[in-house]
Amino acid sequence: MAGIDSGAEKIDSRIGQPILELDTPTLLLDRAASDRNLARMAAFFRDCPAKLRPHFKNHKCVTLAKRQLAAGAVGMTCAKLGEAEILVDHGINNVLIANQIVGPIKTARLARLAQRAHVAVAVDHLEQATAISRAATAAGSLVHLLIEVDIGMGRCGVAPGQPALDLARRLIDLPGVHFSGIQAYEGHLVNVLDRADRVTRSRQAMQQAVDTRRLIEAAGIPVGCISGCSSATYDSTGTLPGVDEVQAGTYATMDRQYHRLAPEFDIALSVLVRVISRPNPGKAVLDLGVKGAGGEFGVPAIRDFPDVEIPFFLAEEHTVVQNAPDWRIGQVLHLIPSHACTTCNLYREIVVHDQGVVVEVWPIEASGRLS
Ligand SMILES: Cc1ncc(COP(=O)(O)O)c(C=O)c1O
Repeated sequence: MAGIDSGAEKIDSRIGQPILELDTPTLLLDRAASDRNLARMAAFFRDCPAKLRPHFKNHKCVTLAKRQLAAGAVGMTCAKLGEAEILVDHGINNVLIANQIVGPIKTARLARLAQRAHVAVAVDHLEQATAISRAATAAGSLVHLLIEVDIGMGRCGVAPGQPALDLARRLIDLPGVHFSGIQAYEGHLVNVLDRADRVTRSRQAMQQAVDTRRLIEAAGIPVGCISGCSSATYDSTGTLPGVDEVQAGTYATMDRQYHRLAPEFDIALSVLVRVISRPNPGKAVLDLGVKGAGGEFGVPAIRDFPDVEIPFFLAEEHTVVQNAPDWRIGQVLHLIPSHACTTCNLYREIVVHDQGVVVEVWPIEASGRLS
């Protein structure tokens, strides 16, 4: 909507409108709530040895990333190379892709990206590193490599200890790359509901990365950083001595699932939806389904109606509420997604409001960037 028209910036006609008058579904962000989240996390890390490197995959919105950096973050974490390219295109020049980049097209893109920015990427095998080394050498760039260590999640990663040291020894000889540290994500413990239990277990898990760091350092190989952690473990693993970077993402927007885990952050994200049908007195149908909100962490909630349970969330374009209150057809409601990251990825823009009035519209530049 916003754009250039005869040299002047077009004003989005929605700015100044009450959000309740917007069309539906619309992805919304409460700016004050998100700002509070950014400020709270930044304050936590202001005097910590570890620094914040927020995960861009949460919102994929460059404006929000820039706000996180302005609040003190040292760079951004990405899941995908395409996300990192978007950030660098918009002037954000310190990015970590916390995943493996494989295949000749991708390694060439990665090497070209490293001509323009400080780019780090996870590896867990010499084969990935060798291919990146070749591409970077051809492009005349330098790619930073973090060895991913599997600290219990069972996804990618070498085993902690000797296997990581063995790989580090091979990486330091490769041209075009620099061994810069360790990637370690305790994702298997992020959803542990009992906070004390989560703290203990996540610190134990992350200690394996710290011990690995010490082993590599004892062999005379400098380890620039350990990068990992999440919005649910920032205060446990993020304060462990030896951990340098916290990749928390969801704290910026929050969602239903994360609010159970870290209620100190406010839910800023919602999807404005509309009641489109009342087939019988108890039943209401909303104009949004799984094509409008990620559902893999359970059902969404309806804000201001805590007693309303959505029994299932599987239809493409509908949500059926069985115990609906006296909502009228046409009424708009705030749906709180169970998972912010997969929800933001479905939209091209986020309508930002302050106390219910639209104040800005931010593009979600990396929406749909899967490669
Ligand atoms: C590699 C990595 N780091 C960090 C995170 C944490 O992000 P969040 O704070 O949104 O849970 C994730 C989440 O999936 C991840 O995959």
